[in-house]
Amino acid sequence: MLDLLITHASLPDGRQNMSIAVQGGRINEVTEGLQAPAHETVDAGGLLVSPPFVDAHFHMDSTLSYGQPRVNESGTLLEGIALWGELKPTLTHDAIVQRALQYCDMAVARGLLAIRSHVDTSHPSLLPVEALLDVKQRVAPYLDLQLVAFPQDGVLRAPGGLDNLKRALDMGVDVVGGIPHFERTMAQGAESVKILCELAAERGKRVDMHCDESDDPHSRHVETLAYETQRLGLYGRVTGSHLTSMHSMDNYYVSKLIPLMAEADLGVVANPLINITLQGRHDTYPKRRGMTRVPELMAAGLTVAFGHDCVLDPWYSGGSADMLEAAHMGLHVGQMTSQAAMRQCFDAVTVNPAKLLGLEGYGIAPGCHADLVLLHARNPVDAIRLRATRLGVWRRGQRVASSPAPVAQLNLPGRPGSVDFASN
Ligand code: FE2
Repeated sequence: MLDLLITHASLPDGRQNMSIAVQGGRINEVTEGLQAPAHETVDAGGLLVSPPFVDAHFHMDSTLSYGQPRVNESGTLLEGIALWGELKPTLTHDAIVQRALQYCDMAVARGLLAIRSHVDTSHPSLLPVEALLDVKQRVAPYLDLQLVAFPQDGVLRAPGGLDNLKRALDMGVDVVGGIPHFERTMAQGAESVKILCELAAERGKRVDMHCDESDDPHSRHVETLAYETQRLGLYGRVTGSHLTSMHSMDNYYVSKLIPLMAEADLGVVANPLINITLQGRHDTYPKRRGMTRVPELMAAGLTVAFGHDCVLDPWYSGGSADMLEAAHMGLHVGQMTSQAAMRQCFDAVTVNPAKLLGLEGYGIAPGCHADLVLLHARNPVDAIRLRATRLGVWRRGQRVASSPAPVAQLNLPGRPGSVDFASN
């Protein structure tokens, strides 16, 4: 007897009427028209079944803290960092854990089952690190939480920054982070990239840096990141997050830069919701959008993901763990409106971030983990358009969340009695 059988599913690659058979937490068959006894049987009725959403860029130590101790009036990155600095002395282990667990509850309800979260390593107490390592263990049965040692105040700029980051890695943090554009000078920023990539090479770690989160077209730390990646042979293990300065860079320079990034097999994370709100704040009109050059980077063969980055924290007053909201914004900001580009936006919150995180057993194929999401939409493009409800979410074949279909009842003369947005 199977643990789970989902029938009449549409898959993200366009296959329809598929059955997905699950046993022992893994998918053992994906085929058309299979019928077999199972403990749970779900008729998807032609709706989309996807592997879970993955967020390649988040800050779980600050999430759900909006308004503490005040809100960000200017809306800039730098006021957000200052505000986080005001909040940090008041943080407690329990408060961080409770907020993070609450966020993970929302994530599971949204079918978001893997998150790479940066964790601030600036203060020698490493309180946020201890708290999120605790959370990582507690959510492990239902959510993969990967942690990045993130020197928010600058690994060189803040006293003891490098030692604190190394201690965070010793404690079990998975990935080496950085913030070169926040170091004191361009030279120090480049030096930080070199030091951190060497550290990752020494320890066999992946790298994911906040890089060039700026409207300054001369912020070119991504060039150094690509160089260090190829110098140290870290191909496919290094991600540049944000890269917003690329939006404002000279086109000729970018025509040299993107091939260097592709040569290094750099991963890229754009954070559309945050980029469109934080960037361009010093502009009058026209105001720059600030998001990095997503379609061009994808066309060059780089793996590009959309991250959520922030939910209700010093940098962002919105969000609800919905990666389709990030994809929706990325589609619009990047003008990715062809059918192929819209499907790429779905990949940018599923398979692409899964690759950047190095997730094992991700996907809908025999042998993969039975981590699945049933969406109230018929294909990936509609899922983004509708920011589709997650009707069912399964982790290792066990249902972990359900939501009712959003069908509106109508009372109109001569018109149908209801509207089901997924039926079109
Ligand atoms: Fe971030």
